[in-house]
Amino acid sequence: MPRKILVTSALPYANGAIHLGHLVEYIQTDIWARFQKMRGHECWYVCADDTHGTPVMLRAEKEGIAPEQLIARVHQEHTRDFAGFHVAFDNYHTTHSEETRFFANDIYGKLKAAGLIEVRSIEQFYDPVKEMFLPDRFIKGECPQCGAADQYGDSCEACGAAYAPTDLKNPVSAVSGAVPVRKSSDHYFFRLSDPRCQEFLRRATREICKAQPEAVNKLQEWLGEEGENRLSDWDISRDAPYFGFEIPDAPGKYFYVWLDAPIGYFGSLKNLAARTPAIDVAAFTDKAAAAKAGSELYHFVGKDILYFHALFWPAELEFAGYRVPTAVFAHGFLTVDGQKMSKSRGTFITAESYLKQGLDPEWLRYYYAAKLNATMEDIDLSLDDFVARVNSDLVGKYVNIASRCAGFIGKRFGGRLVADDSPLLAEARAAAGTIADHYEAREYGKAVREIMALADRANQFVNEHAPWELAKQAGAEGRLQRVCSQALQLFRLLTIYLKPVLPKLAAEAEAFLRLAPLAWADAASLLPDGHEIGEYRHLASRVERKQIDALLEANRESLAPAAPDSHSQQRHAERQQHAEEKAVVTHISIDEFARVDLRVARIAAAEHVEGAEKLIKLTLDLGAETRTVFAGIKSAYDPAALVGRLTVVVANLAPRKMKFGVSEGMILAASGDGPGIFLLSPDSGAQPGMKVK
Ligand code: 2FM
Ligand code: ZN
Repeated sequence: MPRKILVTSALPYANGAIHLGHLVEYIQTDIWARFQKMRGHECWYVCADDTHGTPVMLRAEKEGIAPEQLIARVHQEHTRDFAGFHVAFDNYHTTHSEETRFFANDIYGKLKAAGLIEVRSIEQFYDPVKEMFLPDRFIKGECPQCGAADQYGDSCEACGAAYAPTDLKNPVSAVSGAVPVRKSSDHYFFRLSDPRCQEFLRRATREICKAQPEAVNKLQEWLGEEGENRLSDWDISRDAPYFGFEIPDAPGKYFYVWLDAPIGYFGSLKNLAARTPAIDVAAFTDKAAAAKAGSELYHFVGKDILYFHALFWPAELEFAGYRVPTAVFAHGFLTVDGQKMSKSRGTFITAESYLKQGLDPEWLRYYYAAKLNATMEDIDLSLDDFVARVNSDLVGKYVNIASRCAGFIGKRFGGRLVADDSPLLAEARAAAGTIADHYEAREYGKAVREIMALADRANQFVNEHAPWELAKQAGAEGRLQRVCSQALQLFRLLTIYLKPVLPKLAAEAEAFLRLAPLAWADAASLLPDGHEIGEYRHLASRVERKQIDALLEANRESLAPAAPDSHSQQRHAERQQHAEEKAVVTHISIDEFARVDLRVARIAAAEHVEGAEKLIKLTLDLGAETRTVFAGIKSAYDPAALVGRLTVVVANLAPRKMKFGVSEGMILAASGDGPGIFLLSPDSGAQPGMKVK
């Protein structure tokens, strides 16, 4: 039975460029949507620009243009960048649209009718020169905690303290430089603290997030225990001047950008439906109609906006009579070579610059797919690994099969294949189910590993039968045609499996194999005897490290990263203060701790290092592998006494080149103010390689 699926990616802000960090999400979602379509489901992938809010308003003003002009320009840039990476939205709309306004008004009206909107007067900082209320990020001053100057209104970058903007000492408006004054005004609140909301969220959001245990834990933290009321009401209005939708019955008051942003998902669908008769909007948005149609709704989002999608948004929908999401899938952030993207290192790479440098977008799609899983862990773009993986997998494995065999079929057999089945072909067809399960579960890394294992076997098969040798032997024509045909049959199956990730390469493969667009079900069969293929043309090139270096150079900004980039700035500026943000910043999350791979190791050998005052060279047995680690423990230990001992090692520390060799990890030891170094050891029973957590 074909499913009815609506899938979304978070709407990017309309005042910044798309970068490789954004693309993790769009590529992840695009692969999933393409996969669902290949399976024959009715799947609509919609998105839009997130256009409203103070930053867009101020940026337009600074550029001397109307906000409408700014968002039109950015819309065009975003559309270009997404198309460049083959992100195939069925619709890419804007929240500044009549469709979004329609849903925003409707949802607001229904929440109000349900008694869930309340008006309260609140006091905020107001810029008397600019005549506007100031979002937290537009107020600067001295940190109330440590006194550091020039800190934003929500948290201190020097000491990490989080506070309310009204706590800042000597505050000034970042917009005009004026000293802000406190001023009261009426704000509209969505009453999340209402017992109905609490009860609903406790029940529903666990279900919405059940695919991700880490997300369920977060929700638990946000919601607290049964009977506890941790959620405060949500301020959904902003005063003029504001670029957004005016609230219908409240002149001068506007919907806060985060109210209409997710509503933009439905706005985009409605806009698409106006030119797509097959879409019944209500079947995806209305509670009763969606239940009847059995439709599904999925949101792919970054872990930082899970709060909005798993709490505010479902509650809004539920009490307005709309359908709630089937699931929210949160992903982690992108790091580059293990670090946050940075403008000074050139790793804050824009989509546009990547394409302009002539890098193939499918290299990145493939690399991300190989790294992605269903968790909220961050994903690392390791640049050397990127080069190695693309070259070895895409060029060296997948394309290699076709490039080594297609020529013989074309030149010697008029392009005709013979179809004889084999255990290897049967195995490749049988893998369709497992690979599909991985895609469905967003375990793309696992899917890619399965596919590449098949590609390895296909290449082995080609190596064993060496068509280039057969081509020289008299009387081996029949074998040559069979071997090459079988390799191309395998290549076709791999193309089906890789198609959600590599749509352009797959289209080129389809053209050369003379096939109609491949669907998932095609993996059940082989090409028929006598099928005629076209001429093979070069399918993929290798990536060179120097191309990556040129890309970093093009993105490098010589100035140290002074101001936060517009994206994170906007996120901060416009993000509702919530429990998580108020947490003391010096804590690390369990996810951050989990990134440290601590393992039990057995010291297999220990020796003095010639010329080193403090170091002992250790050979560590980690169960599956051996590592060399230089440890500064000579003052406390005799090497001979260390051999055979168990200890704990940081196993995922980047290898460090030292004067005496490369150190591949770090062992843990305690020390205090006085002398003495004390090596950690696990209790007896622990085995080398065990994870410490
Ligand atoms: O964080 C962001 O980039 C927001 N513009 C995401 C909005 S997602 C959805 F709610 F629209
Ligand atoms: Zn401080």
